[in-house]
Amino acid sequence: MSDAEAHHVRVLRGKRVLLGVSGGIAAYKAVTVASRLTQAGAIVDVLMTAAAQKFVTPLTFSAITGRPVTTDMWGQGQGQILHVTMAREADLFLVAPATANTIARLALGLADDPLSATALATRAPLLLAPAMETGMWENPATQAHVATLVERGATLVGPMPGRLASGAVGMGRMAEPPQIIEMVRKVLGRKGPLAGVHVVITAGGTQEALDPVRFLTNRSTGKMGIAIARSARDFGAEVTVIHSPLQVSIPFGVHSVPVTSARDMCEATFDLLPRTDVLIGAAAVADYRPATVAEQKIKKKDDITIQLVRNPDILAEVGRQRKATGRPRIMVGFAAETEDLLANAKAKLEAKNLDLILVNDVSAPHSGFGTDTNQVTLLDRWGDVLPWPLLSKEEVADRLMVWVARQLRGQSLADLGA
Ligand code: CTP
Repeated sequence: MSDAEAHHVRVLRGKRVLLGVSGGIAAYKAVTVASRLTQAGAIVDVLMTAAAQKFVTPLTFSAITGRPVTTDMWGQGQGQILHVTMAREADLFLVAPATANTIARLALGLADDPLSATALATRAPLLLAPAMETGMWENPATQAHVATLVERGATLVGPMPGRLASGAVGMGRMAEPPQIIEMVRKVLGRKGPLAGVHVVITAGGTQEALDPVRFLTNRSTGKMGIAIARSARDFGAEVTVIHSPLQVSIPFGVHSVPVTSARDMCEATFDLLPRTDVLIGAAAVADYRPATVAEQKIKKKDDITIQLVRNPDILAEVGRQRKATGRPRIMVGFAAETEDLLANAKAKLEAKNLDLILVNDVSAPHSGFGTDTNQVTLLDRWGDVLPWPLLSKEEVADRLMVWVARQLRGQSLADLGA
């Protein structure tokens, strides 16, 4: 893996994040944001407005980030104009919380405190986490300033509806720290190796209805598919996840298409096909569904027999169409096997017209349904085989995205190394 690729795998490691904190009660949550970014390996330099210092002390941030906090324009020492140096080196400028006043000042291009001066000087992407009273958020003045900043390329995370500082409930609550971190990852990854590529992922185990209250399903939790979605997003892709009900949440910054049955999932996949560059089938699609769905709840009496009929094979149908259209450019499948791993996987790869299949032995410990780790072997359409060690699902996802990025550049599995 090249350095550049490894860099993207760990999207926060070594990244320089400027965290502008302005004066709202949500400033205390910015401490958590600074802490999580630092723990993830980012270099976090905090700039506080005077109002922010009424809520949280600079000492709190410097203790957490291990770096000095900038609170005023003067007395920065070392003969350097600190905000200019920081601005030049930054990978991202995050303002959390972004108050109505700070948003207005950024939109106007004012530069009379370190936060606004650095924001004006930097070429790094700007990410705003607004936090204010509903009236201030909805005011046309604020909306116009936000529109101006978005037009200039700023990204927003939130605000959210919820309880505000005044005790009222309404729009204006700052996004929660985990959501802000997810958005930081997305913005940092924007120019990554999959920028401009639309990755569609199927995830989860489909549900096949028997009657209004019962369905057949399987042990899939959706963890692998969601790890791939997050990784693809961090690599700069536009990501859509077509998923049945999951036991894990959908990451921020990816599109979600909720479905229930295999047939719904198939339809949603075909709907997106004209816009799909890379299709990854991580769903455990039910191969069968009940031949009939009872309109009323089935009451217990004698033993019953359920007749099952075949569901569409989503990847196989897309694979057939792909021969004519050339879309999607790349198709990846998974094979969950308990015996003859490679032979079974090879047959599936060919039958579904895939470029790559990731085989896992679901009977092995630490691999497969519900686990946080996975041990997969890759088999590509040219017959190259690459066993990966036991890895976290995140690591499998990151390595898979490296493979996808290389594949788009015309490199094969043999180039990837273990
Ligand atoms: N898949 C699909 N549609 C189906 C069944 C499977 O798109 N109806 C996809 C899965 O998302 C996975 C791959 O095909 O990427 C292999 O699925 P798997 O269940 O391992 O294989 P099957 O083709 O269903 O074969 P079998 O059940 O006989 O092992």
